[in-house]
Amino acid sequence: MDIFKTNTSVTKHLEPLLNKGKTIGFVPTMGALHKGHLSLIKKAIAQNNVVIVSVFVNPTQFNNTKDLEKYPRTLQKDVALIQTLSDKIIVFAPNTNEIYGNTIQSKKYSFDGLEFQMEGKFRDGHFDGVGTILDYFFSTLKPTNAYFGEKDFQQLQIVKKLVSKYNLDVNIIGCEIFREASGLAMSSRNTRLTDTGKTEASFIYKTLLQAKKKFGTKSASKVEEWVTKQFAKNKHFKLEYVTIAEVTTLKTVKRKSKKQKYRIFIAAFIDNVRLIDNIALN
Ligand code: PAF
Repeated sequence: MDIFKTNTSVTKHLEPLLNKGKTIGFVPTMGALHKGHLSLIKKAIAQNNVVIVSVFVNPTQFNNTKDLEKYPRTLQKDVALIQTLSDKIIVFAPNTNEIYGNTIQSKKYSFDGLEFQMEGKFRDGHFDGVGTILDYFFSTLKPTNAYFGEKDFQQLQIVKKLVSKYNLDVNIIGCEIFREASGLAMSSRNTRLTDTGKTEASFIYKTLLQAKKKFGTKSASKVEEWVTKQFAKNKHFKLEYVTIAEVTTLKTVKRKSKKQKYRIFIAAFIDNVRLIDNIALN
């Protein structure tokens, strides 16, 4: 399997493939791969001639240095896991210096307000960091298709905006959330949960499903209130936010309309680990 660490070596490898008109499927990751990532890679394999997976813990998208330090880094294990799917997959695993040089700073982007909703309210500069690294990857690797999980639904909408607003030549493909049997959304952060935490964490998905039922007959604000109460009663969790939002603007719903699509979003801490999840409501 080819593993590249530098921009020069990976572009040298990709250039002849691009010149031959091969389609390139790209799965950006921060490593600590799980079945959710593997499902994105499988989709990329099915839809492209060449697949490239990046493994890079991007410092500029972390607003909390402790969170960045604690983020799991397991490159060897990740490569072994990728290899179980195919040894033709290309891995790009640069170090921070290769991407940012001596200045670890993000560029500033406008995502037409999407960046100020939900995660944007709690993670200052997060989406500028995501925009910066993806801009870099898209311009370096020139993928035909890039794959993103819906667990980070806000990120997915922001990446679509980045591409349309800044005229980037790549198709963005959203993929359904991959869940544990308990319903817990797969996430690299789950590795930091205690056994009890991991069992208790399925509470998020169960609550989302109940909220979906309630949304059939109740207003968005009533459902949000109900979810807030459930979390207040659960001693394992600290809820950061619950929001029911319209899927294109990500604005909190004031009045329901049959013509619009909504999702419910939650961010909550358990075992000092911040988890996010969301489901479609209609
Ligand atoms: O979703 C992630 O893992 C990251 O935000 C991404 C897209 C790899 C950018 O660093």
